[in-house]
Amino acid sequence: AEGVVVAIDGPSGSGKSSTAKGVATARGLWYLDTGAMYRAMTWWMQHHRIDVDDAAAVAEAAGRPDITMGTDPAAPTVHVDGRDVAREIRTQEVTAKVSAVSAVPAVRERLVDEQRGTIAQARRRAGGIVVEGRDITTIVAPDASVKIYLTASAEARAHRRSGEVQGSDVAAIQADLARRDLLDSSREDSPLTQTAEALELETTGLGLDEVVAIVVALIDRAV
Ligand code: C5P
Repeated sequence: AEGVVVAIDGPSGSGKSSTAKGVATARGLWYLDTGAMYRAMTWWMQHHRIDVDDAAAVAEAAGRPDITMGTDPAAPTVHVDGRDVAREIRTQEVTAKVSAVSAVPAVRERLVDEQRGTIAQARRRAGGIVVEGRDITTIVAPDASVKIYLTASAEARAHRRSGEVQGSDVAAIQADLARRDLLDSSREDSPLTQTAEALELETTGLGLDEVVAIVVALIDRAV
């Protein structure tokens, strides 16, 4: 039987990761955080002293790192050349540059290919997969069984994110989310875009359990 594919896009801090993991756990599906793949690529470039503002240098190196994603929603993992980089990819240094690296077409081409490979595997070997990112409903898996565009107010997104980052200031986080959203939405290649095919889910007043329940109900209706 063909597995289910749930595609979730949305701006930074909209709750994609928590929602996607909750849904995958509830339905026994694989989980893929594509943002973590772009972060892993960015970390590798910085670690190897590649100038991430030099798009040609980034494109040339894009094929070099080996990026391996663990797809268990209870314990997702990220390895680059065999090294566990779960913590490294969440640093301010990586966050500041990930939008520049992810705008390089050679980077996207490679990672989208790998994302599609993982989706195909999940369809064959598991019940399916929940994939979250910026271009999943539009580019990576436009034929997904369920397509969702997750949103929340800028204030709610900054508050949620500040709960995850220790000692952080909400205004600074809100400014950083806005900066990344602008870059991610305005880039030439596969920008974050809300399409009519994806269902908009506005989560500002909702708890995580409520959002997960809505998405699970959408899956049950789609299969
Ligand atoms: O989801 P997260 O905030 O960790 O994503 C980090 C960055 O990776 C985004 O700001 C965006 O630049 C990039 N990204 C992307 N396409 C995706 C997922 C993430 O360009 N599908």
